[in-house]
Amino acid sequence: MIPRFGDGRDWFFEKRFGMFVHWGIYAVAGWHEQLQWRAAMPQAEYVKLAEQFNPTNFDPDEWLRLAKSAGMEYLVFTTKHHDGFCMWDTAATDFNIMHTPYGRDILAELAEACQRQGILLGLYYSCPDWHHPNAINLGGDHQLEKPNPDAQPDLMKYIDFVRTQIRELATNYGRVAAFFWDIPPRLNVPDLNETLRALQPGIVINDRGFSPGDYCTPERNVPAGQAFTRPTEACQSVGAQSWGFRRDEDYFTPDFLIRSMDKIFAMGGNYLLNVGPRPDGTIPPEATAILTEVGAWYKRVQESIVGADPAPGILANTEILTTRRGNTLYLHLPNGLTATGLCLPPLQAKPQRAILLNTGEPVRASVEQPPSMFRRGPCLRLSGLPADGLRSQAAVIRLNFDNGVLP
Ligand code: GLC
Repeated sequence: MIPRFGDGRDWFFEKRFGMFVHWGIYAVAGWHEQLQWRAAMPQAEYVKLAEQFNPTNFDPDEWLRLAKSAGMEYLVFTTKHHDGFCMWDTAATDFNIMHTPYGRDILAELAEACQRQGILLGLYYSCPDWHHPNAINLGGDHQLEKPNPDAQPDLMKYIDFVRTQIRELATNYGRVAAFFWDIPPRLNVPDLNETLRALQPGIVINDRGFSPGDYCTPERNVPAGQAFTRPTEACQSVGAQSWGFRRDEDYFTPDFLIRSMDKIFAMGGNYLLNVGPRPDGTIPPEATAILTEVGAWYKRVQESIVGADPAPGILANTEILTTRRGNTLYLHLPNGLTATGLCLPPLQAKPQRAILLNTGEPVRASVEQPPSMFRRGPCLRLSGLPADGLRSQAAVIRLNFDNGVLP
């Protein structure tokens, strides 16, 4: 089991599924959140998007209703992405939401809605900045190749700007449960995380900032293995191309996302699934449909994730991942069922009950010597599974054992 923090940060182990939201002025162009860099758009042109940003249909309660209906319990929001545009009323730069036709503090509205609806709020903040004159843009990783006309790179001044912003974010918006730094700055500025922890006891801080932080953040990637050894939150977006709103997005299939979610959850990780709201503030219907389907699966199998720990080493077949709560064992088959039956050596006891959580249907269980296990002794066998309906969707089976059966 991954050691708990033993303090207010332990919410991270109880709330396992979160919503990531990438939203900024790049949504107006609807291409990619890194439009300015990846399409080499001059700053003078990029900043014009702020003049058009007017999300009159922004309703944070609506976002949260969608998140909750999918079983999500926390939300991480892009306060400032690499473009440097700030989605809150910051005193540190004018390049912010108050200087758009919308002119309202979006982060404040979102934070209030989170408090109302009991959703924990996490803040994403980009270390690279393509707008601030003192930021470093020398063509390095996630840095502009051609500096802006007003560029005066000065790392110490830029860090001071970040300090001011971090204080604002950790002071003015109520409880902040998580801080998601992006793009490691390869700098040692420990006071930034210390400030966050002092102002927000119970905050978890990720590993992309100024220290290894509290948790790892594999991105669009499902690491190999049976169980994580460090607190982990995998992130993925509903779209294959972009995190921000993209008009011509290539959306993932819900089954693909569910496969990766099940693997991450069974290994003890959290999952942050991203949506990119449209320029008017609404979540694209394609994303809503995906969340609805993914959420229906999550809610059916949630008991195998929340309050259950990875239990590697119980089965000989390491393609079946296992989680456990007391005498209850959950089998996770992230890639779906390959046959209508499963042999589970070295288990040799019949459970009191076996349920396929995807459908809620009971599963036939017996202890026998199947021919495929010739000379290897009897084992627990499950049979009569509806494999056709679960060819590609992660299947989860609950087995309730008597005391003392599980090692
Ligand atoms: C990457 C991308 C960024 C995105 C982030 C989400 O770091 O650069 O655009 O916000 O991943 O984890």
